[in-house]
Amino acid sequence: MVCKLNSKLFGYLRPYTKRVLSFGHPIGGSQCKSKVCQSLNGVIVIGSFLCFLLAMACGYKYVLPESGAIIPNYVIPDSSHSNSECNFFDGRWVPDESYPLYNSSECPFAEQGFDCLANGRRDSGYLRWRWKPKNCQIPRFNVHAVLEKLRGKRVVFVGDSLSRTQWESMICLLMTGVEDKKSVYEVNGNKISKHIRYLGVRFGSFDFTVEFYRSVFLVQPGSVPKRAPKRVKLTLKLDVLDDISKEWIDSDVLIFNSGHWWTPGKLFEMGWYFQAGGKMKLGMSISAGFRTAIATWASWIENMIDTNKTRVFFRTFESSHWSGGTRQKCKVTRRPLSKTKGRDRSPFSNMVLNVVKNLSIPVTVLHVTPMGAFRSDAHVGTWSDNPLVPDCSHWCLPGVPDMWNEILFSYLLSQESVSLQGNGNL
Ligand SMILES: *[C@@H]1O[C@H](CO)[C@@H](O)[C@H](O)[C@H]1NC(C)=O
Ligand SMILES: *[C@@H]1O[C@H](CO)[C@@H](O)[C@H](O)[C@H]1NC(C)=O
Ligand SMILES: *[C@@H]1O[C@H](CO)[C@@H](O)[C@H](O)[C@H]1NC(C)=O
Repeated sequence: MVCKLNSKLFGYLRPYTKRVLSFGHPIGGSQCKSKVCQSLNGVIVIGSFLCFLLAMACGYKYVLPESGAIIPNYVIPDSSHSNSECNFFDGRWVPDESYPLYNSSECPFAEQGFDCLANGRRDSGYLRWRWKPKNCQIPRFNVHAVLEKLRGKRVVFVGDSLSRTQWESMICLLMTGVEDKKSVYEVNGNKISKHIRYLGVRFGSFDFTVEFYRSVFLVQPGSVPKRAPKRVKLTLKLDVLDDISKEWIDSDVLIFNSGHWWTPGKLFEMGWYFQAGGKMKLGMSISAGFRTAIATWASWIENMIDTNKTRVFFRTFESSHWSGGTRQKCKVTRRPLSKTKGRDRSPFSNMVLNVVKNLSIPVTVLHVTPMGAFRSDAHVGTWSDNPLVPDCSHWCLPGVPDMWNEILFSYLLSQESVSLQGNGNL
């Protein structure tokens, strides 16, 4: 079922896979870089924390009443619903003229392929929708609060191109609050590309980085055993996390995704087969493969991540809007759908939700499948860098991924509102 669905949904990508499949170059200088950063970051984190405490102690009495105009933005308005009770992911899209939150053409980190307006899209209604959860509000984006919250931190996105989109969206959102745009730069001077394995953007004036690690399966590619059948060109070691995972450990915010590459077209038909426990698993289905990989991810999280330091998120499957049976068609609409027609569910998302439920440490699932399901109007369609190949998987920027980030920010900031209260009681 999963396989069938996916081959239908993503079969169109086959011509791409050869180009995209290469796992790129080793990360080179980033290891020694991160050592230096580690100790530097340590000092800065402790320093800013002390400053924060001091400021809170001094400022609580005097500052808080006056800054009322800013802070209430960050408290969930309906006090009967605390953050944990509100389901951010059950809701609907409502028109909102205050969107979009930035202009991609003015953001050097929005790749051209996602800048639909610049690529000729004429209608702009798709830019003016806000996600409204049923029982609460997503706090309005306050760039200065988020920039301060991230000071001294390391935000790491891991996954496929949909992760890269969210990474780009986050950088563009945050740059709207940075005066000196030149202070925001890619640490290795690299340009964004589809195969690149690592991208790290540093916000110099705020001393934090927002990084992207390309790891489309999250688990480790391996070589082909000697006696394997000819059709096996590459293996995927389902029981070992990607070897760049050591780079993810020392982060403050860690956001994963995986799903769009778990298709016959991108695996079996390209010669990729599964391996586990040192043995080939030629008959293993894609859904069983994904389940095994997610279990590997889960035990890695439990064993390697200190959740006192790192806030972990997993974003569920991002809905796509292909139609037309075997001949894949991509028709981008002008308005969101009023019904999701089953696209609000995905077996991949369910597996992630089930695995995370069982974890012994806190991981937040960004369950974006339902909200994306309505947005047949928000894909790049033919307004990408390759108009000959329509695309109903990726999203225009600005657009839907901005909302993922707004929700992510509200999780990060609501932590702060808890500690605000805590300090107030002292
Ligand atoms: C975005 O910025 C570009 C370049 O400055 C400008 O030409 C365009 O009109 C802007 N688009 C919108 C929707 O404001
Ligand atoms: C996290 O913090 C708690 C409470 O301060 C502590 O008991 C626990 O050992 C810490 N965990 C790790 C992995 O450091
Ligand atoms: C969750 O834990 C229960 C009880 O230990 C187990 O039966 C179940 O298979 C686990 N589910 C997943 C998805 O790991």
